[in-house]
Amino acid sequence: MSPEPQLTDAFGRTIDYLRVSLTDACNLRCVYCMPKDMSFMPSQEKLSVEEYKRVLPLFVEVGFRKFRFTGGEPTLHPQLIELISFTASLPGNPFCALTTNALKLKDLAQPLAYAGLKRVNVSLDSLDAERFDRMARGPSLEQAWEGVLAAEEAGLDVKLNAVMVRNLNEEDLIPLARLSMEHAWQIRFLEMMPFAEQTHFQNTRAMENQSIQQRLETEFGPLEPVRTGLDGEARVMRIPGAPGELGFISPVSEPFCASCNRMRLTADGKLRLCLLKEDELDLRAILRTGGTDETLLDAIRTGIRRKPWGHELSHNRFALNRSMNQIGG
Ligand code: GTP
Ligand code: 5AD
Ligand code: SF4
Repeated sequence: MSPEPQLTDAFGRTIDYLRVSLTDACNLRCVYCMPKDMSFMPSQEKLSVEEYKRVLPLFVEVGFRKFRFTGGEPTLHPQLIELISFTASLPGNPFCALTTNALKLKDLAQPLAYAGLKRVNVSLDSLDAERFDRMARGPSLEQAWEGVLAAEEAGLDVKLNAVMVRNLNEEDLIPLARLSMEHAWQIRFLEMMPFAEQTHFQNTRAMENQSIQQRLETEFGPLEPVRTGLDGEARVMRIPGAPGELGFISPVSEPFCASCNRMRLTADGKLRLCLLKEDELDLRAILRTGGTDETLLDAIRTGIRRKPWGHELSHNRFALNRSMNQIGG
């Protein structure tokens, strides 16, 4: 099977990045992500390993080149290593990455790197044990930190994601940015986005990246742009002389929908066309009713054609059908 030329959507955007959610479950309960008493999908709702192995090669066939495994928390999937190894060996050796809270990376980082994983993006919102606990609703800072160091040790590219929340982790801003002076990591500040039941909290406690950058410049002096344009969704800057970088992901104040190159596969087998829109196509239904590869390929191509332009947060239109852990970011 040799990959087809890459496909573009109705707005001329090349779609070549699939975010693959392996579960909606998580061993944390971050305040901006899900309600504290969240209940998770029963296992029969979730795609099986065989079902992932059936559809992922079809995404490669229509031109996807990058796969990021997400959750909930993807390291809770018992066959994560097998899935990474399978995906990294597909034609063209797609780029494989993982977004994780790092709690299980101490043991998994090395085998994941051997399996072909290249990068981990770690959600880490605080370097203070008490604040970490308050945000993630789990006392696990030390374990997460060990996981990040294990990823670095295993030779994985490391990015840290911090969702900034007013009156919660503002004090972490400077210490998080300072990590870029000690490690060759990209430390990213994420504007909080509204979803489902969390919408009110998110809309009232979100912080804009412009004010974050100003606070950083008051502390460190002017930041240097590292490249023109975006690196994925991040505007990347550097504290002069630092080995690492600072990334600003600003979906609310500076939407990057014009350069969107991604779609999502949820753990229950829906092809979600835009993070912040409810539109989905049901690939699981095709898989479970004996659909052929051609039918699945047609559905994926249709999804690409129907991908919406982008979000309408500024018009107070929110996607309410899933919380963040049910999409995977
Ligand atoms: P890289 O491969 O390192 O560029 O990773 P990434 O930034 O694509 O993935 P990650 O899982 O680290 O996501 C970082 C943040 O960007 C999360 O808050 C995501 O929810 C957000 N994000 C990712 N994709 C999109 C998108 O298409 N639209 C919006 N609005 N936000 C996104
Ligand atoms: N807004 C922005 N980012 C979020 N994340 C989870 N929920 C939100 C939200 N409401 C982040 C996680 C993870 C990434 C996939 O998305 O911290 O790093
Ligand atoms: Fe879990 Fe990630 Fe959601 Fe936090 S943001 S509860 S680590 S899925």
